[in-house]
Amino acid sequence: MKPREMRPQVYWVGAIDWDRRLFDALIPLPDGTSYNSYLIEGSEKVALIDTVDPTMEQVLVNHLDHLEVKNLDYVVANHAEQDHSGTLPRVLEKYPQAKVVCTAKCKGMLMDLLLIPDARFMTVDDKETISLGDRTLEFIHAPWVHWPETMLTYLREDKILFPCDFFGSHLATTDMYVTDGGQVYEAAKRYYAEIMMPFRATIQKNLEKIKDYAIDIIAPSHGPMYDKPEFILKAYHSWAFDEPGNIVVLPYISMHDSTRKMVEYLVGALAKRGVTVKQFDLTVTDIGKLAMSLVDAATIVIGTPTVLAGAHPNVIYAAFLANALRPNLKFASIIGSYGWGGKAVEQLAGMIPNLKVELLEPVLSKGVPKETDFRALDNLADTIAQKHKEQGFA
Ligand code: FEO
Repeated sequence: MKPREMRPQVYWVGAIDWDRRLFDALIPLPDGTSYNSYLIEGSEKVALIDTVDPTMEQVLVNHLDHLEVKNLDYVVANHAEQDHSGTLPRVLEKYPQAKVVCTAKCKGMLMDLLLIPDARFMTVDDKETISLGDRTLEFIHAPWVHWPETMLTYLREDKILFPCDFFGSHLATTDMYVTDGGQVYEAAKRYYAEIMMPFRATIQKNLEKIKDYAIDIIAPSHGPMYDKPEFILKAYHSWAFDEPGNIVVLPYISMHDSTRKMVEYLVGALAKRGVTVKQFDLTVTDIGKLAMSLVDAATIVIGTPTVLAGAHPNVIYAAFLANALRPNLKFASIIGSYGWGGKAVEQLAGMIPNLKVELLEPVLSKGVPKETDFRALDNLADTIAQKHKEQGFA
């Protein structure tokens, strides 16, 4: 792949990583990803916006050589995470005059993470600008998209916003701009769930902060660019601001089929009452899909057998993740089975303090579920459907 011209003297110079399957040793990447870097050749100065993952540094260097970039004045680091900053040392070595432009917090992180010396930095305040001659870069501080040091860069004359992780999607594609809206919507929602959802209140503020900018292109650092920015702005607005839907997410584990029978019964009972259910068997599920389902769900019901007096370890992991992702859930419950006792309910309920939920009466069966357990599940389904209706979710 060669550099791609977006506007006169404005180029995509990134790398597409078709084969990466895991990010941060945690997040599944079913469709690979890209590390988008952008070059702006102003009439007087040249700037690079973000770099690429260190595994792909030669790709970026080849792009710069292909475009015969002899001098680089600025390397804008919107974000200190390695997938965008990891090639900074190589770029700074290649261009000894180049300054790293970033927030003060980002400077500290880059010094810690990459040992870049103090003299190579130029920190910028919120709304500060740098002139490239015929082009102007404006820096918009936007913390927590994805770390506390993040900022966005706005190229005024071309009305291009470079938001780094914000609005991104883990998607390897040769499409410069969104062509398959359904595919990008799903990848961007997954990305929002995994990366942005824990900071929803700050995301709301950042969306407000950019709402008066005229934007023709949003050029994130993962996935395709948006030449119709309202596509992703509208989606983000909905994910960050909307009330949840009439949806229950049901992650579960079953060892000897008792919990599975309860899960299947509850799913049917909820569906009968008009509630949408997303069911995840945690032995096989993709946790990104589970995260994505939490974006617009009103209720989580966790299904677990009792193991060594507590919940199954895979269920503990899912509860930990749900708590860390801080979705906008309103209700929670726990169902499952036990052999002779245990504290699975107390344990799980104590693990989700970040979820500001009302805990609905759990349903636990001793051994295989019996008629009384199924009636209790009917009652739980009634309660959930009723609560959703009262809150205006149904
Ligand atoms: Fe794409 Fe937070 O790095």
